[in-house]
Formats: sequence, structure tokens, C-alpha cells
Amino acid sequence: MTETPAPTTEHELCENKRAALDAIIAQHRDRPGALMVILNETQKQVGYVSEPMQRYVAKKMRVPVSAVHGVVTFYSFFTTQPRGKHTIKFCMGTACYVGGVPQLIEKAKQLTGSDIGQTTPDGQLTMEVCRCVGACSQAPVVTVDDEVVGRVKPNKFPQLIKKLLES
Ligand code: FES
Repeated sequence: MTETPAPTTEHELCENKRAALDAIIAQHRDRPGALMVILNETQKQVGYVSEPMQRYVAKKMRVPVSAVHGVVTFYSFFTTQPRGKHTIKFCMGTACYVGGVPQLIEKAKQLTGSDIGQTTPDGQLTMEVCRCVGACSQAPVVTVDDEVVGRVKPNKFPQLIKKLLES
């Protein structure tokens, strides 16, 4: 009787992803801070760093999976799923929180039918939260595709979301 081999990290990824990761790792593995650089490049080139991808990088770099996971979850730049065409981030710093961001989040949830951390089913918009972006005097602040949008008025906000869902 032959035993089925236990799945390895190689089997969790499609050939294209594996090839992309192999190329990134080969190019950067000897640089100082290689792990960070490799994860950064992966996010930029592939668009996200899924858990199977994290396991693959850990194996290839001979570091614990927890080390890779720690980096990916610490920096908001990384995502574990593909982002939508547009990304809106709600600033959760104190000034913005007090200035009405929770209400904007509720409105956005109603308008999109999606939650924070999710992408609309049509792949159009990803909603996330972020820390203070340094524009506290303009609270409440959101960022749209990395552009800071301050003094977001609740009555104008639905238009902004609508535009993102349609463009
Ligand atoms: S608290 Fe939102 S920009 Fe500082």
C-alpha cells in the first residue's frame, strides 16, 4: 500500500505564484533585511501575501512561519488577500475616531454590503482601517488609494463611495 505524502508548502501554491516567489527570493535573499524586502516585493508584484505564500517564504528562507506572519500582520501595507481596484482606509487615530470615522464606517458598510477587511464581491473596493496618517487637523480622515481625504462630510460621503464603486 502506498501512502499519500503529506501536503507540502509547494503544493499549496499554483505554479505562477511559486515561480514569482522563487524569483523574488533568489533576487533578494542575500540582502540585509531580506525577509522584509522579499515580503515587500511580493506584496507589490503579486498584490498580496496569503498564508500559503507566507509558509513558502518561511520554508525557503529557513525562518519560522511565525516570523513571517508577524511581519505581515504588523504592517498594514501587507494584505493576505487580493485588494480590490480601489482601497479606502478609515483612520482610527483618536482625532478621527472622535471626529466621526465610526459613523463613516457604518455608512460605508451599508452602502457596500461589505465589512472592514473585505473587498466587495465585484472586486471594486476594499475597506480597511489604518492608524493616524498625520492629518489630524483634518479629521475625519480616510485615504483613497493612498491619497489622504480630509474633512469628510457625512452628507458627501455616500457620493465618494458611489464613485469608488463605479469607477
Ligand atoms: S487621527 Fe486621523 S489623521 Fe491623525
